[in-house]
Order: sequence, then structure tokens, then C-alpha cells
Amino acid sequence: MPLPKAELHLHIEGTLEPELAFELAARNDVELPYADTDALRKAYDFDGLQSFLNLYYELMAVLRTERDFEDLANAYLARAAAQGVRHAEIFFDPQAHIARGVAMATVVEGLWRALGSSEANHGVSTRLIMCFLRDESAESALETLEAAKPHLDRITGIGLDSAEVGHPPAKFREVYEAAAALGLRRVAHAGEEGPPEYITEALDVLGVERIDHGLRCMESPELVERLARDRIPLTLCPLSNVRLRTVDTLADHPLPAMLDAGLMCTVNSDDPAYFGGYAGDNFEAVQKSLGLSEDRLRELARNSFLASFLEDDEERRSR
Ligand code: ADE
Ligand code: ZN
Repeated sequence: MPLPKAELHLHIEGTLEPELAFELAARNDVELPYADTDALRKAYDFDGLQSFLNLYYELMAVLRTERDFEDLANAYLARAAAQGVRHAEIFFDPQAHIARGVAMATVVEGLWRALGSSEANHGVSTRLIMCFLRDESAESALETLEAAKPHLDRITGIGLDSAEVGHPPAKFREVYEAAAALGLRRVAHAGEEGPPEYITEALDVLGVERIDHGLRCMESPELVERLARDRIPLTLCPLSNVRLRTVDTLADHPLPAMLDAGLMCTVNSDDPAYFGGYAGDNFEAVQKSLGLSEDRLRELARNSFLASFLEDDEERRSR
């Protein structure tokens, strides 16, 4: 039995496996510039975040209809459930779809067709987190929030993703303030490739409750102390860090040092179709490569539920 866990850092578009990509390409009459799934898999050789993002955005071309988003989410939920995931807080990137002429409603309602019945079908409770692309403008983020307003019953929170360096969190102060006023929860990617100052800024300027990645906090002892003291959850993605060359090998991953420093770490998969594994695979990989004890693994699993928006949301609703 895999350890029950929550997944808090998962881009639904990053769960697009090559087989499904080709199936959707055929269904939607989209031509992919790869001969077959093997040729596509060979392209999964990244030298950093941007080289991954190029392929990630390119493959989204196959996602066109509500049914496509539903199929994508159902495929993820089935795989996650098999690896012990009981709760998933799922990112999506509406701007990347709207830019291709796919409406916000198509994306959200398509995903919801799977998420709305996920507890019954997969035994996985879910939340949806809408991410803004930080390499797009602040105005575009505000327009995206506006477009999401008819769908806020489906959306729990907002996040910030895409190319990090050169796009500090403060650029998105206004949209985060507007989202907070709407009662949305707030998270942001910070300290994946960007400096520790971006983590501090995400906390102080955007008011985020969790940091996605946060790896580079380890360069600032003062920041580590603050994150540990305030129990700010970090949603780490070890296999992603290796594939995007943020760490050299899994054996070099700072997760043990981060736990020793008292940080509230969780282990997640980020973009599992591209990075070699789902949540359970990430747990297994860190256990093997870093020799984490059973107690440490249980701590990581417990943190994932404590750091989730699950109980707070239910408490809020019952008030
Ligand atoms: N979008 C999808 N995966 C991402 C990651 N690891 N970092 C930033 N943006 C992303
Ligand atoms: Zn991510």
C-alpha cells in the first residue's frame, strides 16, 4: 500500500503523456512535429526551465475541447490514486489556452467534469488553482482573473508560474490583492531558478500561504529561519529539480538538509509526464537516493495534508 498523501504542486498540462498527446492530436486534427511517442520522449532532454517550458507550451496545442481537458484530468487522477494520492490541488495555466483561442469556460468546465466526480471515481478530493504566467504582463493576469470570475465556484486559489528569472513576484501585486479580496487562496512559484529574494517578496508582497519549490531558500540562513519559524509550506518537486538541472543528481538534493533545518517540506511531482514520475515515484526516488527514514517519509506525507487547503476550506464553508 503506498503512503496516503496529498499532492500540492501539479500542473495538469504537465500530466500530458505522449500517448494521450498523440490520441488528442488525432482527435482534433492537430499535427505534432514528432513522428511518434518515442520521438517525442527523446525531446524530454532539458537544460533548464525554459527548454522544458518550450515543449510544454508546444504540446498544449492538442488540448482543444472540454472533453480533452476532462480526459487529461481523469488520466492524472487515476495514476495519482494508484500511487496513494488522496487529495490533489491542481494548477492550470488559462493564459496558455486563451492565447490559442480556447475559452476559460472550456478549460475550467472540462477539468471540472473530471474533478467534480473525482472523489466518487478515484477516491481523490481535489482543488483547482489558477496560475498566472509570470512572463506575461500584469495586465494580462488581471484580465485572466476577470475572465475567471464566472467560474470562481470551481477555483480555490491562484498561483504564479512559468519563466521565473527576471519576473519577480512584485510585478503581480495588484492581481494578488484583487484575488485576495475575492477570497481566493494564494501560492506562487519562487526560488526554483530565481533568487531567495523572490521567496521573501512572494510572502511579503503577494501574501502567499505556500511557496512552490522554494529550493533556493537554502542560500539565505535568515530566510530558512523565517520559513521554519512560520511553518511556511514548501512544495518541493525532486524529480523535476533533477530534470531541469536545478540540482545535479537526486543524491545532491537538499531535502534532508531542509527537513533538518525544520522546514515544512512536501514532495510533489510538478509535471510528471515530463519529469519521470508521479507523486509516489517522487517519494520512492527520494527514499532510495537520499536514504530517508520511514519517519521522515511519514512526516512528508503528514505535511502534505497539513499544508493543503482541504480542512480550512471545509471549515470556512461550514461557518
Ligand atoms: N509550469 C509548469 N511547470 C513549471 C515549473 N516547474 N516551473 C515554472 N512554471 C512551470
Ligand atoms: Zn511547478
